[in-house]
Amino acid sequence: MTDIEKLLSSCLFEIDNAINTKKLDDIKIAVLGKNGKLTERLKSLRNMPEDQRKIVGAEINAIKSEILKRIEAKALTLEILELEKKLSSEFIDVSMPARIRPSGCIHPLTKVTEEVANILSEYGFVFTEGPEIETEYYNFTALNIPDHHPARTMHDTFYVSYPTNNEGRRLLRTHTSPVQVRSMLVNNTPPFRYFSIGRVYRSDYDATHTPMFNQIEGLMVGKDISFSHLKYMMTDFLKKFFGVPKLELRLRPSFFPFTEPSTEIDINYEIKGGRILFGSGDKWMEVAGGGIVHPNVLKSGNVDPDQYQGFAFGFGLERLTSLKYGVSDLRKYFESDERWRNAFGFSYVTK
Ligand code: DAH
Repeated sequence: MTDIEKLLSSCLFEIDNAINTKKLDDIKIAVLGKNGKLTERLKSLRNMPEDQRKIVGAEINAIKSEILKRIEAKALTLEILELEKKLSSEFIDVSMPARIRPSGCIHPLTKVTEEVANILSEYGFVFTEGPEIETEYYNFTALNIPDHHPARTMHDTFYVSYPTNNEGRRLLRTHTSPVQVRSMLVNNTPPFRYFSIGRVYRSDYDATHTPMFNQIEGLMVGKDISFSHLKYMMTDFLKKFFGVPKLELRLRPSFFPFTEPSTEIDINYEIKGGRILFGSGDKWMEVAGGGIVHPNVLKSGNVDPDQYQGFAFGFGLERLTSLKYGVSDLRKYFESDERWRNAFGFSYVTK
């Protein structure tokens, strides 16, 4: 056996007996690597006479391709074996009980905010915002609320200690109505339809009052916007919101300084099987306030009351949510109780 034949046979023996792919790689490097045994032989060709170089060169190359072929075949076998071993040791037990992960959910107020915004947008109402830290001017004066009005007292309103300016003291807004005036000052060319949804603050705390809550405000102004538009819109809006085919509205005369005439809006309902049903029955539930915008409020928004008129309305967001989804204690909305959240929250997945 020639030297080179010996190299081949010992090499093939090693390949056949390699126990894993790592070992196979080592063999490959030892033979065919930069300083491998076969590579060294190829290098030594340089010193051979021309005629011998051709013969020996061809021989080495034939051996090289034989070794490579054997390595490839062996690699495939080893890979399959290793995969099988891995699969049999790393199996997944699908019968194991799942690990429960608490998942987040949509807060009922977020859900209803979205519902209300979607419906109001259908009528062309545009969402607007105002600051939660307001001034006496926008919260009261611009809305025709007189200086001596009880709502202005420290008893009801949170005043903020901050230097006063010509708009009076700063306070946490007590309603979203100041957004009416602020929106008009941005665009006071009727016709326009604005709505806002946001936090308001009053010094109150019990099962039906929290110091912070949310209101929905609407304002529609044009040449001939009348009470009948308000009535139609409120009826249609509330039918869509509660998902009922018919609904009766009762408009009760009321008083708000920023509307004249003013109304309290009730809808009919009945209790059936412990559930409240809207649109049937002869009981009345108050859901909103509204009216025809007072000329002084239009003036605050730089809108000429001799040319234009409109309606405004206000809802309590928590109240609408409670009526639709059956939450009884207002404070629960803001307590972040996980059990409450799981009972009343909405999944991200289903609608
Ligand atoms: N701002 C009133 C409140 O907080 C609610 C309200 C009533 C808003 C009548 C209006 C309205 O826009 O027209 O009690």
